[in-house]
Amino acid sequence: MLWLKALHLIFMVTWFAGLFYLPRLYVYHAMSTDELSNERFKVMERKLFFGIMTPGMVATLVFGIWMLLDYAWAMYATSGWLHAKLALLALLLVYHYFCGLWLFDFKHDRNRHSHIYYRWMNEIPVLFLLGIVILAVVKPF
Ligand code: HEM
Repeated sequence: MLWLKALHLIFMVTWFAGLFYLPRLYVYHAMSTDELSNERFKVMERKLFFGIMTPGMVATLVFGIWMLLDYAWAMYATSGWLHAKLALLALLLVYHYFCGLWLFDFKHDRNRHSHIYYRWMNEIPVLFLLGIVILAVVKPF
């Protein structure tokens, strides 16, 4: 059981590394003006999204759901923190999906947002990290 939790946390860190860095790449990409940078950012973004972030997300979900089936649902099914965490996770998956939409916009040279927009978007994962970790560790309700 502790192995599942350790793997869950390792892949969660991998996932968040991407959630923090990809929108930061979008900030610089949206500011870039030359073709060489444009193509280089596309490669970096694609590798980060498909090579690190999405596998990190899938593995976090697999080990999280595994723990739920193994013991955690039976233990915490009536606890509010677990439901609140799962609700935040659903929103985090929507954010991940939006990261993928922005990726395809840049890929096809049809980005419609400014670097300021991505700077704001870049702050969102911090809120998810704070909320989800506090709910999972402190279990306040
Ligand atoms: C579908 C996705 C997820 C599921 C089903 C899930 C489920 C779980 C379960 C069942 C536990 C064990 C709870 C316990 O024994 O106390 C756990 C632990 C934990 N999860 Fe998740 N989780 C998911 C995603 C995440 C994400 C995205 C984060 C971070 C942002 C996260 C952070 C943590 C932390 C920090 C713990 C350790 C809590 C502790 O032992 O004190 N989880 N998760």
